[in-house]
Amino acid sequence: MHLITRIIQLLSLTLFSCVTQADDNLDWHTQSNYTQIISTHVHLDLSVDFKQKQLSGYIEHTLKRLAPDVTELKLDTRDLTILKVEHFDNQQWHKGEFALAKETDFRGSQLVIKLKPQTTKIRVYYHSTPEASGLQWLSPAQTAGKKHPFMFSQSQAIHARSWMPIQDTPAMRVSYSATIRTDKHLRPVMSADNNPQWHDDGIYQFTMPQPIPPYLIAIAAGNIHHKTMSKQTAIYSEPEYLDVAAKEFEDTQAMIDATEKLYGEYRWNQYDLLILPPSFPFGGMENPRLSFITPTVIAGDKSLVNLIAHELAHSWSGNLVTNATWRDLWLNEGFTSYVENRIMESVFGKKRAMMERTLDSQGLRQEVEELDESDTILHIAMQGRDPDDAFSGIPYTKGHLFLWFLEQRFGREKFDLFLKAYFDNHAFQSIDTRGFIAYLDKHLISQYPGKVTIEEVKTWIFKPGLPTFTPLAQSDTFTKVQQHMDSWLSNRAALSDIPTKQWTVHEWLYFINNLPEEISKEQLALLDKTYQLTLSTNNEIAHAWLLLSLQKKYYVVNQRLENYLISIGRRKLIVPLYEALISDEKTRPFAVSIYQKARAGYHPLAQSTIDALFTEYE
Ligand code: BES
Ligand code: ZN
Repeated sequence: MHLITRIIQLLSLTLFSCVTQADDNLDWHTQSNYTQIISTHVHLDLSVDFKQKQLSGYIEHTLKRLAPDVTELKLDTRDLTILKVEHFDNQQWHKGEFALAKETDFRGSQLVIKLKPQTTKIRVYYHSTPEASGLQWLSPAQTAGKKHPFMFSQSQAIHARSWMPIQDTPAMRVSYSATIRTDKHLRPVMSADNNPQWHDDGIYQFTMPQPIPPYLIAIAAGNIHHKTMSKQTAIYSEPEYLDVAAKEFEDTQAMIDATEKLYGEYRWNQYDLLILPPSFPFGGMENPRLSFITPTVIAGDKSLVNLIAHELAHSWSGNLVTNATWRDLWLNEGFTSYVENRIMESVFGKKRAMMERTLDSQGLRQEVEELDESDTILHIAMQGRDPDDAFSGIPYTKGHLFLWFLEQRFGREKFDLFLKAYFDNHAFQSIDTRGFIAYLDKHLISQYPGKVTIEEVKTWIFKPGLPTFTPLAQSDTFTKVQQHMDSWLSNRAALSDIPTKQWTVHEWLYFINNLPEEISKEQLALLDKTYQLTLSTNNEIAHAWLLLSLQKKYYVVNQRLENYLISIGRRKLIVPLYEALISDEKTRPFAVSIYQKARAGYHPLAQSTIDALFTEYE
């Protein structure tokens, strides 16, 4: 090759890799110009209009220029109606110029606002539309009390832009305040300082003084009441859930105390739980000071409270130290899943924590088999993809097992100190995967040579599947369950010989999930007859059993399945059931008929996931 051509080629290669390297650290999922100018504080002044299913009013951005010559502020929006823009200079508000770009893709429409050199604040007057992907508007029939409507936001990952024009990236942080106007009896709450004493005059003030990424700004309104649990914790919910939730989640304060011991101060004062109607599409959402929680985990025996440990753990991993982009989600969810398990161990003991870790790792191994290889990488490629479509257990459980691996190699004492210092040193900041690796290398790997190599770390983070050196989660309790199952399956014992009376939900889940591939319909029928699994009121057990029944064609469809799918909207629980129904031609008509009844009650996120399933199998 000609020398000059070769040099040019090399040069452009280096240039290209520099560009991709730099791009790597930028958030592809925002169309805002957050590297040039940021808002440091936002104020929302919004009316909650249940009739029109919209929020309307204005958002005010207090601006800080990072590039002195910046002439425009670019914000993310999706499905918003923009009415007017004002800018503040010389102590006055003036009408401003703006342009709303055409919607490009799922990122929405960029709102471009002209800035004057002296502009310090911008107000955008707007309203959301009933299509807002980040809001759900529930009719009274969809609530527990059946009398009042209810609404709530779910902004992670990129849905905040569907209810406010904002720089919708976790790479930057804002403090916020809000004035919320509602119907008199429909109380609003936010991820802010909720006042337990409320006055139903219809106007409420909120402040969140700590800077948070915009996906953590959250609102709900409805017939919401309050019950104190402890000095720092309370339940907000419809009155129907107040007492049962306060009982189920009474250990929340103990969880906070345990986490503070391990990882340092809880920095958000209050930690309350908002119990939502059952159509909430997630188990929980870690909105600061007020986690949003599905009522489907109120099991009556605290068997599913690891969800609370999880959302609480986000007060350190996620809310205090935040993933800089959505491809770094494992920094939020993997750390949180690890911390969740440590909280469970502190409050409920080693045995339970190990059962939960084992169930999760089993689930992960199965997911790794099913996913595209490239989606089993922690540092997942996200350009051009909707974060909702790339969602899986990988960031959660593979991330958890990676940290557990580090804990085992360095010893608990050193690893705990490392994590505590990591949270302290990055408090109220965002960090990406490369930033974490550099920190890990400097503060742990190089400090104690010979324990872990940087190659091992890179295998965990950049390679697909599970490393050969993944620690194996094993539970003695499950080993016993397995022995009983084996005895029954090989006719050495009858079902009645299995001591299931003492079994916890975890043991049941292990049992159902580990029944052999070749289990017969007759055996399933016997299990069901003996243990009434179809009728289990524990939503996780019911989910595991209904799914297995569908996969094994034990029955095609029954009333319990229909009721389950109609009464619950949590994606993780319902989507696999729909998939099992839809993927088989014989059961697809049932899926169609159930979905017809259920769809209107689901959150837009759940609707679009299930709509896509129908299209996929058409
Ligand atoms: N932050 C997540 C929910 C989420 C993640 C929403 C990514 C949108 C995008 C929340 O903390 C979560 O992980 N919830 C789990 C809890 C479970 C792992 C205990 C859920 O909802 O199932
Ligand atoms: Zn989480």
